Amino acid sequence: MKILVAFLGLFALALASPTNSQTKVVCYYDSKSYVRESQARMLPMDLDPALSFCTHLVYGYAGIQPDTYKMVSLNENLDIDRNYANYRAITNFRSKYPGLKVLLSVGGDADTEDEQKYNLLLESPQARTAFVNSAVLLAEQHGFDGIDLAWQFARIKPKKIRSTWGSIWHGIKKTFGTTLVDEKEAEHKEGFTALVRDLKAALNLKPHMQLSVTVLPNVNATIYYDVPAIINLVDIVNLNAFDYYTPSRNPKEADYTSPIYKPQNRNDFLNVDSAVSYWLSGGAPSNKIVVGIATYARTWKLDSDSEISGVPPLHADGPGEAGPYTKTEGLLSYPEVCAKLINPNHQKGMRPHLRKVTDPSKRFGTYAFRLPDDSGEGGLWVSYEDPDTAGQKATYAKSKNLGGVSIVDLSMDDFRGLCTGDKYPILRAAKYRL
Ligand SMILES: *[C@@H]1O[C@H](CO)[C@@H](O)[C@H](O)[C@H]1NC(C)=O
Repeated sequence: MKILVAFLGLFALALASPTNSQTKVVCYYDSKSYVRESQARMLPMDLDPALSFCTHLVYGYAGIQPDTYKMVSLNENLDIDRNYANYRAITNFRSKYPGLKVLLSVGGDADTEDEQKYNLLLESPQARTAFVNSAVLLAEQHGFDGIDLAWQFARIKPKKIRSTWGSIWHGIKKTFGTTLVDEKEAEHKEGFTALVRDLKAALNLKPHMQLSVTVLPNVNATIYYDVPAIINLVDIVNLNAFDYYTPSRNPKEADYTSPIYKPQNRNDFLNVDSAVSYWLSGGAPSNKIVVGIATYARTWKLDSDSEISGVPPLHADGPGEAGPYTKTEGLLSYPEVCAKLINPNHQKGMRPHLRKVTDPSKRFGTYAFRLPDDSGEGGLWVSYEDPDTAGQKATYAKSKNLGGVSIVDLSMDDFRGLCTGDKYPILRAAKYRL
């Protein structure tokens, strides 16, 4: 009887918490959303409805001071000064969500001044020490639970799928060399390992400080991340396994931006599963690996040369026009995509809505498009995540026993609930599937 009761108790417990308590939902908050306009402007208080779904909140992004190699705020007015004090506003959320870990992230492609410093720092033990000491101090002073290294390494060159529109398939090596911009990759790999080691040692002197790494899109992890050497030193590896295709990297060719598995005739490495496999094959415990889910879309213009089927890869004519809120060419937030999928009144002067094409195989992702009109204008092709595909990525992570997912970032999810009334639909869908 006792055993039965105990068993029922366990069963009830399992029902009450269907997700493993170790499962991570790492939520990124990119503070540049603070300076967007109208509906896209996100303030720290807008994070509140998300935080009951997040285990980690990553505040982005701090940078590196070029001459001193110190880790610093890139916007002191916003992050630190009394009027806004976002660092505090963010870390104070822990009083409402005690289990939440709040990390301060450095890099993340937000630190655009003198980018060579990310390499130079790795070449100098003195620079490393300056960085480590300042990083720990900065995090500690503002109440962060740790540091995330979203290191800005050199990127792989864009890979063409076809050499010219309409021609036969070509080997990638023929059209693009394999030479990288970074001539000292081995040195930088070693330097990064040393940086992780030093930073971990410094964080260990503080109670409960975590260390994570974020592998940025199109950084070749094989080159820079020595898995056996660093994996025991980091708590989480966030794989930003998206933006494999973007309108700025691949203006003439549109394709799925972040397929889970390799679509036919594509490069073997440009998909989520390949990124995950690299870490697992290097001996990483699966529960440290977190799969990044982008909340934004990449968009391309279609012209009269674009295949009318809309099936990727297809010919494109550069980035699509900027969204009303995010105001960046080739980029739309999820609520901006969602608005383009419906045009309820068929208003005059408005472009027809986009046709959404889902992926029954659940392997490659969703896209939506509209062909150009008779004058050749208005064509658009959009690769994006929606709640369904975000759920598929979470299901993938779960099936591989991975640590969980990350949402990159909260400000591009529908944080106001403009699409269906639910706030943070992408975050919720991913969390629900874990
Ligand atoms: C990453 O680097 C490895 C080793 O140099 C190379 O074999 C691989 O093709 C690279 N991956 C990509 C996507 O360029």
